[in-house]
Amino acid sequence: MIEHESNSSYSHLNDDVQHQLKRSNAERIEYILSSRWIGYPKAKDILGKLEDLLVYPKKHRMPCMLIVGDSNSGKTMIAERFIDLHPAYEREDNEGIIIPALFIQSPPTPSESRLYSNILSKLFAPFRPSDSAEKKYHQVKTIMAACNVKMLIIDEIHSLLAGPLDKQRVFLSVIRNLSNELKIPIVGLGTKDALRAIKTDPQLDNRFKPSLLPRWEMDIDFRRLLASFERMLPLASPSDLKGKAIAKKLHIMSEGLLGEISDILTQVAILAIRNGSERISIELLDEIDYESPKERKKSNY
Ligand SMILES: Nc1ncnc2c1ncn2[C@@H]1O[C@H](COP(=O)(O)OP(=O)(O)O)[C@@H](O)[C@H]1O
Ligand SMILES: [Mg+2]
Repeated sequence: MIEHESNSSYSHLNDDVQHQLKRSNAERIEYILSSRWIGYPKAKDILGKLEDLLVYPKKHRMPCMLIVGDSNSGKTMIAERFIDLHPAYEREDNEGIIIPALFIQSPPTPSESRLYSNILSKLFAPFRPSDSAEKKYHQVKTIMAACNVKMLIIDEIHSLLAGPLDKQRVFLSVIRNLSNELKIPIVGLGTKDALRAIKTDPQLDNRFKPSLLPRWEMDIDFRRLLASFERMLPLASPSDLKGKAIAKKLHIMSEGLLGEISDILTQVAILAIRNGSERISIELLDEIDYESPKERKKSNY
């Protein structure tokens, strides 16, 4: 546990994070390892678009959305945040539950039947994996309508759109059909491969608006992001992560990927607690055992 000074000296931290300083090192480390949400501008922008889609009036052709970004760029976190903001709830007449938005994972292979299985599992619906795709599809439609599902979000949608072109076509029509039949927007999260696949289907290309989650540039927004991280990491001394030199170092190490930034800062903050330095510095960043995404790729060969 660190010695407690007057609160004002911890103004580099958010109020609720300042309290963490009273806790043991082990507890602080646990806190650092737990999930945190930072509302950066692009994420807020995408959340706003999702809000608009959720209240879009039911039409035969609903607009859809594709959130496109590299792996580890923050796509899943945005969808999870949206679900947290719109949780399922009990109907007033107690006749079941309302699920405003359903968030599912793509099956690892482009299988229509497994897609329906994933939806049914998420809805806690009884089904046999061996049931025909047609039967599951019918169940999906019935239960989603009964639960008032107003949006379907599909993570890792690029894995549904992998494979030969004719298979991709089948899948694109499955998606189009689901959206048309249920009259709900479908939101896909995926890599550029998903965007490429959707562009091959003129009918979907019109409907799926892409929202890009690009890598971070070394600019003022990136430095603001680092400042937000700093305010959430319970270290007793300020690190000034938005400072030019350290920001530049973090930008190079992370290759602009939010997930990497988060991992690096988690590791280095834990080290700063363990070695008692209580702040993140360029020197400490050299001490952590960290391989950049590029280095990891190389060592896989
Ligand atoms: N808004 C955010 N605030 C804080 N950390 C985030 C945020 N978004 C992503 N991260 C960090 O980045 C990691 C990867 O994000 P994730 O959403 O899983 O990326 P993707 O789905 O694009 O692969 C998360 O595990 C988390 O540590
Ligand atoms: Mg993801």
